[in-house]
Amino acid sequence: MKSLILYSSLTGNTKKIAQSIYDTMQGEKEIKNISEVTDNNVDYEKYDIIFLGYWVDKGICDKNSKLVFENIHNKKLALFGTMGANTKGNYGINIMDKVKDVFSKDNEIVGSFICQGKIAEGLKVKYEEMLKLHPENEHIREQLKGHEESQSHPDEQDVSEAVRFTKDIMAKVSDM
Ligand SMILES: Cc1cc2nc3c(=O)[nH]c(=O)nc-3n(C[C@H](O)[C@H](O)[C@H](O)COP(=O)(O)O)c2cc1C
Repeated sequence: MKSLILYSSLTGNTKKIAQSIYDTMQGEKEIKNISEVTDNNVDYEKYDIIFLGYWVDKGICDKNSKLVFENIHNKKLALFGTMGANTKGNYGINIMDKVKDVFSKDNEIVGSFICQGKIAEGLKVKYEEMLKLHPENEHIREQLKGHEESQSHPDEQDVSEAVRFTKDIMAKVSDM
């Protein structure tokens, strides 16, 4: 089995999860930052499963991920992401659903994982100011709610859940 991990990460949270996925995988594997991907330099055909990692930017996957995600066809995919807000409520579930919709329907999404990731320190003051101007903005509100809690993430528990996610996906794909 041949696997690829492509991830996008601005401040290192998603990279940490990507690395734990890589370390868990058996068989032939490659890991790449999405910033290294250009139009023709990844031959997706070579891989049995592709893990795709994004960070959440205003309620959806970041722009660099989206550009790559939209151009993948006919593959088995496993999605993973990190976000500043708590992942447990509807907000996290809605984000995972919205990210799935970015993909062409000819792909098969085998599973999806998301965990909290620390929000860059400098953003707190900026978000507080923005929320005063836009009190209806749920992305800012949810992040501020989760700001303090986010600072320890991704933690050991998140990493062990990512490891379990990886093992489940690899078992599913090898049974297919
Ligand atoms: C510009 C920007 C927008 C963000 N938007 C959201 C958001 O809408 N919802 C959320 O829960 N977190 C949001 N975050 C927090 C990040 O998704 C979170 O910190 C993530 O773990 C960053 O991943 P990285 O370290 O791999 O870059 C935002 C962060 C930045 C910098």
